[in-house]
Amino acid sequence: MESLTQQLTRLVGDVFASHAFNRQFGEVLVSGRPDLGQFQCNGALPAAKQSDRSPRQIAQEIADVLAPMPLFQTVTVAGPGFINLSLTPDYLASHIQEMAISERLGCTATSLPIKIIVDYGGPNVAKPLHVGHLRAAIIGESLKRVARFLGHHVIGDVHLGDWGLQMGMLISEMERRQPDLPHFDGDYTGPYPDSSPVTIADLEEMYPQASQRAQNAPEAMEAARQATYELQQGRPGYQALWRHFVDVSVADLKSDYDRLNIQFDLWLGESDTQDRIPGLIERLLAQGHAYESQGATVVDVSGAEDEDNLPPLMLVKSDGAVLYGTTDLATIDQRVQDLQAQQILYVVDNRQSDHFRQVFRAAYRTGVAPTSVRLEHAGFGTMNGADGKPFKTRVGGVMKLKDLIEMVTQKALERMHEAKIAVDYPTEEKVEVARMVGVAMLKYGDLMNHRTKNYVFDLDRFSTFEGKTGPYLLFTAVRCKSILRKAQEQNLHPGEFRPSASEIEQALMLKIDELQDRLASTYTERAPNHLCDYVYTLAVAFNRFYERHHILREADSAQQASWLALVKLTGDVFEQTLDLLGIEIPERM
Ligand code: ARG
Repeated sequence: MESLTQQLTRLVGDVFASHAFNRQFGEVLVSGRPDLGQFQCNGALPAAKQSDRSPRQIAQEIADVLAPMPLFQTVTVAGPGFINLSLTPDYLASHIQEMAISERLGCTATSLPIKIIVDYGGPNVAKPLHVGHLRAAIIGESLKRVARFLGHHVIGDVHLGDWGLQMGMLISEMERRQPDLPHFDGDYTGPYPDSSPVTIADLEEMYPQASQRAQNAPEAMEAARQATYELQQGRPGYQALWRHFVDVSVADLKSDYDRLNIQFDLWLGESDTQDRIPGLIERLLAQGHAYESQGATVVDVSGAEDEDNLPPLMLVKSDGAVLYGTTDLATIDQRVQDLQAQQILYVVDNRQSDHFRQVFRAAYRTGVAPTSVRLEHAGFGTMNGADGKPFKTRVGGVMKLKDLIEMVTQKALERMHEAKIAVDYPTEEKVEVARMVGVAMLKYGDLMNHRTKNYVFDLDRFSTFEGKTGPYLLFTAVRCKSILRKAQEQNLHPGEFRPSASEIEQALMLKIDELQDRLASTYTERAPNHLCDYVYTLAVAFNRFYERHHILREADSAQQASWLALVKLTGDVFEQTLDLLGIEIPERM
């Protein structure tokens, strides 16, 4: 169904059209001055430029047609020619009623669904996750959910970094530590043992050492390169070992992502494109898109329109190894050919924007991506610590995801204790509520900022139960549930919506109606912060309503049933929007 702004835009557009104006002038927005009207249309100002009448005159003509329509309570003209519109309480109530009984809270699914791949997360096997990976996961998960809710066919792919030099580093580090493993015996013909020779703790301890060694000693780096090359060439012992590294890492990653309520549909990685790389390179060479340069194979990606000089994308290095860009190009090929992708959204750190410019150019120029496929880098800024530098642990290391989850859960427990929330719950439930509150702090604190901005991770601020925070939203959403539960215990149920009994109630109804518009802008601008603003303003409007009207004590039962319906609808909108942000709501708290 249409939102109120959509309905009004259509209606006012008709009137502009019937006055020989472009119907676009009829665009209606939620009013910036609710004291003058619920909605406003500013179209008379640009319309006047195409006419010999003043904007005020035009506004008045349009207003005169609208005013007698039964849905309007008031239609007025203000200032230089703004048209202010307010609906009758009856109309508003019946609209909200319709929303409440409709599917998907009145939000119409797109009539043009497309196949979208969201590439997000991007963790690297064995390497610790850094805050960039955390943001990718949080923002990507939300955009994926929103696109899916809008009716698109969406696939989230983690795009594991499982094929780079770090794999060779680990393999040679293993050889140093456990040279007797059959994996290193060139004459061994298998089968290799099923069980992994390493645990996740081993990998986490090994990687920094391996990487240090390679940085410091040229022969260690050479060994790592050689191992990477042989792995990529398919040496069986290395492949078997590599498989264990990947499996052990993936199991661990899945459990961390799970606690963050982040779910990938595909767990493909850079390695999954390897079999198509040789053919792809051969084709690009044959078609003249790729060429040899100083022993390497490259594709030109610079363009006359560039201000900077975009270097060619290197596909094969002179030593025969393929690179990050090569796998990305092959991944586009795979997604277009095998997954029929029409749009690929890369939710990756802004610092990789040149990489994606190169890869996208190469993909379009070589025809790997037809022009009908949209490749887009939805980049994001950095999560900083109080010192303004990328967030680190207190001792200065990269914060592991597990430790971060632990930290926010502890913080949530502390705050819950202070606010006397969930004090008497069974321990298990209390801890689960704390996890949800903790994750809500983390996610909301992140998503409320426009993704391209850097922001400071300030746990003290993110964790309060007041203001623009995850905990405040959860608290409010749970309040809806608890009112409904208490009502049910007294055998009271939601009923028909009545016209609003106060300005405050009316403001809540209008806020609820904004859902559909906010969802649309969230996706078109790839900006979950729009949804964050929305749910916060919804919470404020709801809490005002809750303070003003004593729902459970109301004597008029029809009024009470109407309010319960409003509480139910508000609760459903919370549930839907928070779910689209990837935030879980406890049953009670
Ligand atoms: N693994 C990469 C990194 O840690 C991120 C991968 C992003 N996705 C992609 N298709 N390149 O930097």
